[in-house]
Amino acid sequence: MLRARQKIGKYRILGRIASGPLADVYRAFDSIHKTRVALKIPKSGDHTGEDEFLHEVQVATKLKHPNILSVINASYIDDHFVIAMELGEESLADRIERRISSARALDLAGQALASLAYAHENKIIHCDIKPENFILFPGNRLKLADFGFAKLSLHTLKASGSGTIDYIAPEQAMGRPKFQSDVFSIGLVLYRLFSGTLPEWPFDWPMAGHDKLVSRVRPELALMLKKAIQLDPAKRYRMPYRCSQPARGCKVVRDARKNRKPGGHT
Ligand SMILES: Nc1ncnc2c1ncn2[C@@H]1O[C@H](COP(=O)(O)OP(=O)(O)O)[C@@H](O)[C@H]1O
Ligand SMILES: [Mg+2]
Repeated sequence: MLRARQKIGKYRILGRIASGPLADVYRAFDSIHKTRVALKIPKSGDHTGEDEFLHEVQVATKLKHPNILSVINASYIDDHFVIAMELGEESLADRIERRISSARALDLAGQALASLAYAHENKIIHCDIKPENFILFPGNRLKLADFGFAKLSLHTLKASGSGTIDYIAPEQAMGRPKFQSDVFSIGLVLYRLFSGTLPEWPFDWPMAGHDKLVSRVRPELALMLKKAIQLDPAKRYRMPYRCSQPARGCKVVRDARKNRKPGGHT
């Protein structure tokens, strides 16, 4: 654990943002570039799990998108593996605790969907979609972070058991993550964003918070969430939709219809 004012290479630690089981995240100052960054530093010790962090960096570096958190640099400094990232203001988990207007929620939903659609187009299953892993930047820009559990969609996909239980799809909990598992998780995140309530097993529609949901979004969007949160992955969407300007009414849903081809992925 590093302390405030401590130096690690060119970085001066300003404070700790979060501490997980495997890594700590700090706010730090880059004394060469004169910028603030976020540093993710795996808990040191026996170097177990280092491959996972290398994998995380390599996946994140491959994905270049305005709604995906950029890795600035990763290197070994003083025997620590240090991942430097652009520094955000707070996570969606923190933001969700305060009031969010419907228009803002729709805009954030569009950005979240765009990030996941892009990851999936690049054959990456995130496997840990939850509010804590979306980071907000100035101007209400939302970025998807934490590709620590991400999987390349290979047929040899190993059982993972990773991800956070609250937002995890049933088949992923059984060790069989698919693209549709991320769709399930983002469905829950968006349901919570609009309704203020996190749905629970057995996810029977209408779920708690439904009244608030339908008072805030158009019926098409509520139906889209219903389809995303199906227990059977085959009944969900295969891919999150691309949605360029979701703030304009319910473009999310209109794009979905337009892109649907007979026999194609829905
Ligand atoms: N670039 C960043 N800017 C601001 N906060 C961040 C950033 N990266 C992570 N965080 C905060 O730290 C927490 C943990 O980071 P994350 O990469 O998700 O690590 P873990 O693998 O421990 O979940 C996030 O939920 C978020 O609150
Ligand atoms: Mg995380």
